[in-house]
Amino acid sequence: MNKQFDVIVIGAGPGGYIAAIRAAQLGFNTACIDEWKNSKGGPAPGGTCTNIGCIPSKALLQSSENYDQAGHHFADHGIEIKGLGMDVAKMLARKDQVVKQNNDGILFLLKKNKVAFFHGRASFATAGEAGHEIKVAGAEALMLTGKHVIVATGSTARALPGAPFDEERILSNDGALRIPDVPKKLGLIGSGVIGLETGSVWRRLGAEVTILEALPTFLGAVDEQIAREARKAFDKQGLKIELGVKVGAVAIDKNGVSVAWTNAKGEPQTLKVDKLIVSIGRVPNTEGLNAQAVGLKLDERGAILVDDDCRTNLPNVWAVGDVVRGPMLAHKAEEEGVAVAERIAGQHGHVNFNTIPWVIYTSPEIAWVGQTEQQLKAAGVKYKAGTFPFMANGRARALGDTTGMVKFLADAATDEILGVHIVGPMASELISEAVVAMEFRASAEDIARICHAHPSLSEATKEAALAVDKRTLNL
Ligand code: FAD
Ligand code: NAI
Repeated sequence: MNKQFDVIVIGAGPGGYIAAIRAAQLGFNTACIDEWKNSKGGPAPGGTCTNIGCIPSKALLQSSENYDQAGHHFADHGIEIKGLGMDVAKMLARKDQVVKQNNDGILFLLKKNKVAFFHGRASFATAGEAGHEIKVAGAEALMLTGKHVIVATGSTARALPGAPFDEERILSNDGALRIPDVPKKLGLIGSGVIGLETGSVWRRLGAEVTILEALPTFLGAVDEQIAREARKAFDKQGLKIELGVKVGAVAIDKNGVSVAWTNAKGEPQTLKVDKLIVSIGRVPNTEGLNAQAVGLKLDERGAILVDDDCRTNLPNVWAVGDVVRGPMLAHKAEEEGVAVAERIAGQHGHVNFNTIPWVIYTSPEIAWVGQTEQQLKAAGVKYKAGTFPFMANGRARALGDTTGMVKFLADAATDEILGVHIVGPMASELISEAVVAMEFRASAEDIARICHAHPSLSEATKEAALAVDKRTLNL
């Protein structure tokens, strides 16, 4: 069977399925191919994000947060709970249900937009007159031809050399979302985004958590003041984080995993844990694409080489999301997917890399957009800073969550907002206002002059903007 399409998208993660929907909206006859299987062997579109990333991790973060609230904070509200317990199996089943709702939702959206979905592994075959031939190895073998191909094959977890994932003792983000019982001792390698989010889940449920991080600074990409504030909160929660370490041999035995490591002073140490999660970054996924055979160029990291517009070296072959340069974030993948579909249609799709927000869904949440204070200093940019603590925000007090602050960085001469950094309650939601402001190239004064609802956490944003001009009203 041979089927001809205007656009073939390989991968149905956030980059791929969104690109396919946008292409179909623009009138293209579009196919989307994805190989992910659910527990019954059926299709499970949504990629890493839906199946073993953003969505399930946030489901577990919510469950563990609720447990933590019930155990430690409900009493402050006069709510008494006796015999509080945690049914891990139920928590995992709920998470699986949330994943399934998203898989089903994406299948529905593809159908609604008349995108032809194929379940199987796609690889490049040849390029002919009619376009690129893509082989699909699924329940039945198919050959599709596309005038345009968008590769959105995502990324996979990077393993420590000599310590492959067995997903029983040494876990990637996949196994980390399926731990059947709360481990007594849990080790994590890497205190990046996954290390902190996943470490938080199991710490809240009672595990003794130790995170070993190679870099000497905590959250080096985050504004230093914000990272310091977050670190204080994580220390209080009992997350043990060791910085500047060198991880050596990892061995599995019948009792668990032991990790030889050297601390920042160069002293040799051993960490013995029941389970070890390795979260040291991710590698672009081009395995099985047959990229070399068709001459699709990769960089030294294995990412597909693209220009600013996501064009590869092959005519009419595009690549988006984790498989190309840039931050490995679902919303970045989506933006690129939309922009590419629009470029194929002759429109001017655009992704503004300066306004991509980052969120770490710990408690407190950490969110930011734009430049950090250390980046501005390094670039010699003259800036003004304004901060406002949640401690002085009425809504935060009512919520019982006053950790953290909002911080604005604005150009010293023009007052244009250059960066906004938040650590505190609902930072993930609050950051949107800053993204909108920066997209419209607003000044700190613009935010300071806008009416914000009272009482709301967003008033801390307004006050931090006022603080840039040293005129906070509530501090
Ligand atoms: P993916 O989501 O990886 O999708 C790629 C798809 O392509 C997969 O379904 C795969 O099966 C399929 N595929 C690959 N090769 C082939 C082939 N040859 N044929 C057919 N199909 C193929 N980002 C955020 O923005 N917010 C978060 O909160 C967040 N949390 C995360 C938590 C964890 C634990 C992890 C691991 C990641 C998280 N991320 C988060 C990152 C986010 O998941 C990725 O940035 C995002 O999924 C990238 O989307 P993508 O479409 O490029 O690739
Ligand atoms: P990461 O890049 O966030 O963090 C990896 C950490 O491991 C770094 O701090 C690094 O210094 C450290 N490291 C690397 N090698 C090491 C070694 N040998 N020993 C000790 N430490 C070592 O990567 P992570 O946490 O694996 O997540 C991958 C990506 O997934 C993130 O960069 C992010 O793009 C995405 N993600 C996004 C989330 C979000 O948006 N909330 C949540 C989870 C993941």
